Amino acid sequence: MDNITIGPLAPGRWLDSFEVSRIGFGDRVAPEVAEAEHQVLVDDRLVVATEGGPDGNLVGTCGSYPFAMTVPGGGSIPVAGVTNVGVLPTHRRRGIFRRLMQRQHDDFAAGGVPVAVLNASDASIYGRIGYGMASRWNLVRVRSGAAFHTAAPTRDLRMMRSADATEVLPALYEAARPVRPGTMSRSAAWWEMLLGPTEMWKGGGHYEVVVAGPDGDDPGGYALYRSSSLNVDPFAEQLGVVVREVVAATPATHAALWRYLLDIDLVQTVEARLAEDDPLLWHLVDPRALGPQGSGDYLFVRILDVPVALCARSYSADIDIVMGVSDHFRPDGAAAGSFRLQAGPGGASCEPTTAEPDVVMGVDALGSLYLGGVDARVLAAAGRVGGRSPAVIDAVARAFRSSPAPFCATHF
Ligand SMILES: CC(C)(COP(=O)(O)OP(=O)(O)OC[C@H]1O[C@@H](n2cnc3c(N)ncnc32)[C@H](O)[C@@H]1OP(=O)(O)O)[C@@H](O)C(=O)NCCC(=O)NCCS
Repeated sequence: MDNITIGPLAPGRWLDSFEVSRIGFGDRVAPEVAEAEHQVLVDDRLVVATEGGPDGNLVGTCGSYPFAMTVPGGGSIPVAGVTNVGVLPTHRRRGIFRRLMQRQHDDFAAGGVPVAVLNASDASIYGRIGYGMASRWNLVRVRSGAAFHTAAPTRDLRMMRSADATEVLPALYEAARPVRPGTMSRSAAWWEMLLGPTEMWKGGGHYEVVVAGPDGDDPGGYALYRSSSLNVDPFAEQLGVVVREVVAATPATHAALWRYLLDIDLVQTVEARLAEDDPLLWHLVDPRALGPQGSGDYLFVRILDVPVALCARSYSADIDIVMGVSDHFRPDGAAAGSFRLQAGPGGASCEPTTAEPDVVMGVDALGSLYLGGVDARVLAAAGRVGGRSPAVIDAVARAFRSSPAPFCATHF
């Protein structure tokens, strides 16, 4: 173990680090994928473990993207989007992951980043370093042609080539970004990757792009989707559409885009990952036209600086409370201790205090509460949040809860 060095990626070693995460995730070798990934994951955002000195073999890696994340109330906060975490199978369970995470999170804190987020291939390993599950998605398969209760508004729709869409989609995405907590900002390089030719989990490959035009103050929106008929037998019984994302700043644009997606000729089912409270179900005359296919976790949130993080969001109800937060992974960091939170719909103040806490929780549970998608009463029932009284837990639940629920459409 002692011959392992943790530090920044040395110049010229990006491909070595990509190789470590590629092996970890069991991906196939595809040089163009490495290139597309390098468009967005730049060298100085990587921390690596090398064996036999800083120039030795790379055996572990982790990276991050600098995002701004929407928080309840529509504001946003700088976050580090942790990605490409991997340790070679030959070097697992020697504490390399833990050391990489320590270094990476120390760097975030030193750089003034108040919150880190990730989506996990292995959801069990991040709780111990302070991440809490904060958003979930529903996978649905909707019967094509399913009727709506209320006719969707008529909007000008136009198809675009992916190559031209990089000029148009970013502004529509930005207009919709404040709507849902958990939405990530996207750089120009991210758009190039998402709409670029190389297909990988984070984006790319061929998408159909449909843009809904503006209507008065409504800037419009867009949907990205892929038809499964592209790659299958043309005589197959089922032609399906898989939606990558529907982006709309208003319910009217959301309805218009979904009406479009459900009315494409020859298609029998439309599959999508939706926010837990997506209104699509409630448009449908026959709710069983929407077949739930499953649900899953997506964003995990790790608070690094409690006062900065809690002041960045707004709250659904007034609250004045002392929160005791434990952080075993970074006990000397700015997330551990007692904090007085005075907050409401108009904003918040949050300061360290020596007063006795009214509620106590781990920093992972606070991460789960942060985006407003989890009810503090449910966490209390699971023994993850404790309080002086049920009334105090109720107050936390009312203040922290957000409508709309958090959702993140960016794969990172
Ligand atoms: C998951 C992975 C990063 C762990 O790396 P590692 O260097 O073996 O982990 P460590 O030795 O530092 O273990 C740290 C702790 O996590 C635990 N742990 C690590 N991987 C675990 C797993 N898959 N399941 C359960 N616990 C795990 C260890 O037991 C250890 O516990 P402790 O702190 O109580 O001692 C590595 O196995 C890997 O790259 N896997 C494939 C890719 C992947 O899953 N990436 C991360 C998901 S996004």
